[in-house]
Amino acid sequence: MKEKPLFKSESRFWTGWDWTVAVVAIFRSVEIPALVTLRFLDFHPRIESLLNLSASALLLADIILRLQRSIQTSRGPLHGAAARKHYLRTFFAFDLVGSIPWGVICNRLLLPGSGWTFVAFLCLFRLARVASLSRDFIRTPSRFFILRRLGIFLLWIGLVVHLVACGWVAVGGINPGLPPGRTYIRALYWSVTTLSTTGFGDITPKTEPQMIYTMLAMIMGAGLYATVIANIASLITRADTARAAFDEKMERLHTLMKYKKMPDALQRRIFDYHQYLWKSGLGHDHETLLKELSPALRRSVGLFLNHHILEQVPMLKGANTAILHRLISNLHTVVYTPGDVIIHHGETGTNMYLINRGEVEVLDPQQGCVATLREGEYFGELALLDPERPRQADVVAKTFCVLSMIDAETFTLVLRKFPEFAAHVRQVAARRLAESDQRAGRS
Ligand code: CMP
Repeated sequence: MKEKPLFKSESRFWTGWDWTVAVVAIFRSVEIPALVTLRFLDFHPRIESLLNLSASALLLADIILRLQRSIQTSRGPLHGAAARKHYLRTFFAFDLVGSIPWGVICNRLLLPGSGWTFVAFLCLFRLARVASLSRDFIRTPSRFFILRRLGIFLLWIGLVVHLVACGWVAVGGINPGLPPGRTYIRALYWSVTTLSTTGFGDITPKTEPQMIYTMLAMIMGAGLYATVIANIASLITRADTARAAFDEKMERLHTLMKYKKMPDALQRRIFDYHQYLWKSGLGHDHETLLKELSPALRRSVGLFLNHHILEQVPMLKGANTAILHRLISNLHTVVYTPGDVIIHHGETGTNMYLINRGEVEVLDPQQGCVATLREGEYFGELALLDPERPRQADVVAKTFCVLSMIDAETFTLVLRKFPEFAAHVRQVAARRLAESDQRAGRS
């Protein structure tokens, strides 16, 4: 195998299909060795043949489909003939050998119980596909990547322990005459103790083939044991690195606030602010993450992270993608805690804000609350439309707020370039200003 493909299905169908293939391949790799060595999982011959034939049909269909599918290799995606050639050169032979209904062939054509039945072990070739799917599964971005890794890791350990146990039965390591279930438990016990290099010595090799098999299992076990310990230890330590980093930051902040003798109420607000950032997933170091990406990738990530924010804003419904792109690349996310004054009445304005999450109150110094603005609405545009005009009201966070801040320069540029959009903003602004003037007139 030269290069393993990172099979990445975009559609749900392909994901479902890959899962089905993996489950069938795993089931066969568990069932057939157990069946051949200890007649365990021994279904009625007809059911057995049906199971075998349908599994093989599915796996063969998978080969046909894979010959049509695009693949993602570590050097980039491959389509059409190139993808086919790549598949034929890498996994095809393994998949083909692993898809033949060996169980049926062995039971029907070859003498059951003869050495030939071990041909059925060829179904294990299909595990190559499971290996590539496992790798793909681990690499798929997910919040639960540690759990995924642990799950895949345990799956493979389980498979190895099972196969080594079946092999031990095949070399006659367990006294004949016991029922299959009890034989299997003893073989499993031997497999676990040997692979974990514990080796209690209560089940020992008697014949030369058994000794050779035991030696091989012990050598494999030494490697496996080291990998298991190292992997599990590293997974457990990494499981909560993000949380640990957050706790450490809080610890440092706490010490600093105490040292600077900050009032308790202020300490509480700072603490609440960080808790909110953490809970809403905004506490991670997004800036550093983005800085490490290539400019093109950074732009795509920026677009992905912000497009939903702009889609929420009614005034931007129907705005063309050029406007959205321009806005998105200049958006800055800011978070306010309840009671924070975001805009002060009478000041000069340098930014406007889109409400991504939370609620704000527009407060007139004389009349109090004149409007409550929510997710999808915006404020702070009046001062930007006319630089001579100071802020018309205070804007205060009513709840925790996640806002997207747009600077005056971007706002003016977007308005200049897109007259239709500017007309819409001016229309809303005119209404707000009229209300504002009305208030000023009354007061
Ligand atoms: P600006 O004057 O820059 O800063 C205060 C903001 O409050 C203002 O822009 C508007 O976006 C907003 N605002 C003022 N009056 C109203 C109103 N009546 N309804 C909604 N928003 C308002």
